[in-house]
Amino acid sequence: MAGEWLTATANTNMFTYEIAAVFILMEQVTLKKMRDIIGFSKGDSILGPGGSISNLYACLCARHKMYPSYKQKGLMGLGQLVIYTSEHSHYSMKGAGMVMGFGTDHVIEVKTDARGRMIPEELEKCILADKAKGFKPFFVCCTAGTTVFGAFDPIEPCADICKKYGLWLHVDAAWGGGVLLSRKHRTKMNGVERADSVTWNPHKLMGTPLQCSTVHFREDGLLMSCNQLSADYLFQQDKHYDVNYDTGDKVIQCGRHNDIFKLWLMWRSKGDKGYERHIDHLFEMTEYMLKKLKEKKDRFHLILEEPECTNVSFWYIPKRLRNVPHTPEKEKILGELTAKLKGRMMNAGTLMIGYQPQGDIPNFFRSIISNAAVQEYDIDFMLEELERLGHDL
Ligand SMILES: Cc1ncc(COP(=O)(O)O)c(C=O)c1O
Repeated sequence: MAGEWLTATANTNMFTYEIAAVFILMEQVTLKKMRDIIGFSKGDSILGPGGSISNLYACLCARHKMYPSYKQKGLMGLGQLVIYTSEHSHYSMKGAGMVMGFGTDHVIEVKTDARGRMIPEELEKCILADKAKGFKPFFVCCTAGTTVFGAFDPIEPCADICKKYGLWLHVDAAWGGGVLLSRKHRTKMNGVERADSVTWNPHKLMGTPLQCSTVHFREDGLLMSCNQLSADYLFQQDKHYDVNYDTGDKVIQCGRHNDIFKLWLMWRSKGDKGYERHIDHLFEMTEYMLKKLKEKKDRFHLILEEPECTNVSFWYIPKRLRNVPHTPEKEKILGELTAKLKGRMMNAGTLMIGYQPQGDIPNFFRSIISNAAVQEYDIDFMLEELERLGHDL
C-alpha cells in the first residue's frame, strides 16, 4: 500500500529512463530476478497491464520470431496460424487469437483430464489434424494454475511436442506463478525453464496490489524488435546514456503506469524467505479448508478432492438434499442453489464467493485463497456463514 501511495505521488511515466530512472532500474533488477527464478539464464521481460495483455505479448513475440515480415507487410500471405491452449485456460488466449486476426476458431481448446490438466497426446492430435488441413500451428500455451480448477498443465511433455513440431511454448502462470517462490510447491511447474515465454502476475498469488503483471522471454531482443516503433520525440538514439534503458519502446503502449515500485518494495520488505512463507501459508490455508470440507461432507461436496492450487471448488448442500443420492439431477439443483446462495451472501453483506459452471458441471463455488492475511478462523467463519445462510434453501 505504501508503494502504491508513493507511486501515485511520484506519478512517473515508465517510458524512458530519463523520466523514470530509479523505477526503470527497479524494473530491470526485479524482472531479472524473476527470470532467474524461472530458470532463464538470459532473456528479457516487461510489465504489462494484466495477464491478458502479457499473454498477448507472448503471442505477438512468437509470431514476430517465426514470421517477422508481418510487422511491415501485414498478415496477408502468412497462412492460417493456430494457437493451442487447454479447454480450461483463461479466455485471454481466445482474446489474443481475436486481436491478432487469427480468429477465435483458430484458438484450439485441447481436452483436459479429470483434474483439468491439458492432455499432451490430445495436443499432438490437434496439431497433426491442423497440419493436415494446411494450417500453421505456431503457439502452445500451457496454463500453470488454471483460473477455475487451479490445474497445472504438464509442461515437460508439451515442451517435447513443441520441440518436435517447432512451435513456441508459452506458460501462462498468471495465477500460479507464485509457486516458483516456494521450494515445496515449485515442482508443479517443472520444465518451465524450457518455455519460450512465461506470464507471471504478482498481483495474484504474490498479493501485490493491482495491477502488476510480468511477461518473460527466453530470447533477449525479441520484445524490442517486435514492438519497437522508434518514435523520435521519445526514443532518440543519440541520448547521452545507454538507450537500452528506454524500455517504453518494447511495448504497444506509450504512457506506462509504474507497476514496479510496489512489487520491489514488497519483495525488499518480505525477502525471499518471507515470500516463500507467504506462498506456503496460502497452501496451508487451502489444506485446512479442504480438511474442514471433508469433515463436513454431508454439507459440502468437493468438485475436486485434491486441487493443485489454492482454488477450492464445492457445492453447498442444504438440509433437504443431504440424504438424496448424488445424480446429475441433484447437481443441476445444486447449481441453481449456488446462484441463490450467492444472492443471500451479498444481501447479508458478509461473504462474496465466486461461482461458475465448468464444462458440463453446473454452477459451483470457487473459493480462492490469495490473501496472506487469511487465517483458519476466517475459513471457519466462511463455512459457518454458508451454513447459516443456506441450510433452508
Ligand atoms: C490463468 C490466467 N491467465 C490470465 C489471466 C488474466 O489476468 P489479468 O486478470 O491480470 O488480465 C487470469 C485471470 O484470472 C488467469 O487466471
